[in-house]
Amino acid sequence: MAIATQLEILDLRHFAARQMRSLLETEAHVWEQRLRWNYQNSTELLLQYLDSRILPGFVALDRGRVAGFTFCVYEGQKAVIGDAFAIASDPDEVLRITQTLLRHMLELLLNSPGTLRIESQLLLYDAGSIEAVFLEYGFQLHPRLFMEFHLPPTAGPFFSPTGTTLPHNLPTNIELCPWSPAYYQQAAELIHESYTNHIDALINDQYCSLHGSLRFLHNIVRFPGCGVFDATESWVLRDTRTSALVGMVLCSRVAPDVAHITQLCVAPPYRGASLGSFLLRHAIDHLSHSGFEAITLTVTEANHQAVRLYEDIGFFTRHRFDAMVLDKTQP
Ligand SMILES: CC(C)(COP(=O)(O)OP(=O)(O)OC[C@H]1O[C@@H](n2cnc3c(N)ncnc32)[C@H](O)[C@@H]1OP(=O)(O)O)[C@@H](O)C(=O)NCCC(=O)NCCS
Repeated sequence: MAIATQLEILDLRHFAARQMRSLLETEAHVWEQRLRWNYQNSTELLLQYLDSRILPGFVALDRGRVAGFTFCVYEGQKAVIGDAFAIASDPDEVLRITQTLLRHMLELLLNSPGTLRIESQLLLYDAGSIEAVFLEYGFQLHPRLFMEFHLPPTAGPFFSPTGTTLPHNLPTNIELCPWSPAYYQQAAELIHESYTNHIDALINDQYCSLHGSLRFLHNIVRFPGCGVFDATESWVLRDTRTSALVGMVLCSRVAPDVAHITQLCVAPPYRGASLGSFLLRHAIDHLSHSGFEAITLTVTEANHQAVRLYEDIGFFTRHRFDAMVLDKTQP
């Protein structure tokens, strides 16, 4: 006989890190199993925030036991729902707890006059599995792919599994350089330029401004949310005639043997000349030499050119999830 849960939903700020640790460690385990992602650094950072009692969010208590939580962070007039996770004896119950938590969060945010936009990408949930609650509140959903590439055990020049040998030479005016913090400003400008009128700018409005692109870069390079940034596995392309940055690939370490590509972009005037595939191939070669076993990345399903590029090189889709967006300023 199924025992009905007796859920209480409480303010996350009433909870200390030690009360949440077990739930967060369970979540870290799920990240490892499903996405090969060592979530420990993110867990520790989150626990520090919990102890500072400033994180807006909710906890689900089932007969006094912590059964789930959700939180958000504010970035000016935008709120990002950073996580929603629940545990229970059966999957339907997990879904019910998660949806209850999300409803509380959405009610809070939609009734906050200063919050004009809400974004969320909850990577652990399959596309469609928690969409109902977001659709109820008028969100737009954009399916995204979590892709993976298995690195060959022996290092060597990279050949695409489809049989095409990718070009090894760059045009004479383009040079490849290792990432350096000196490129920070130029890299943010390149990101901003690369995502103008791009579907990903609908999903993450940081891409819409230079200031936002700097914040995006800052989050990738300085915080562990997307893994630990690895400067030795990150590269830029420069046009030697102008010194302008025209492409880049940035990588983080998400597990001892797994890298995550956090950014790949090429400036619009330089596209279609194989610079994107050159950067990817170079990153793959280098990661292989460094002993990594796999590379992951996320890409919006409707970004067909990028998806084709990844598939052609040998990435496969491990998981499909949704990006959710609500912009109160749009009719
Ligand atoms: C995705 C992106 C990095 C690709 O960069 P790129 O340098 O144009 O990539 P490539 O030239 O290697 O390949 C892209 C296309 O050009 C084609 N191409 C390659 N060499 C070419 C050439 N000499 N002439 C014409 N086309 C060529 C490729 O076949 C590919 O076409 P396809 O999509 O029909 O398969 C770039 O479009 C970009 O920055 N987009 C915005 C940011 C983005 O979406 N990043 C990925 C987020 S996950």
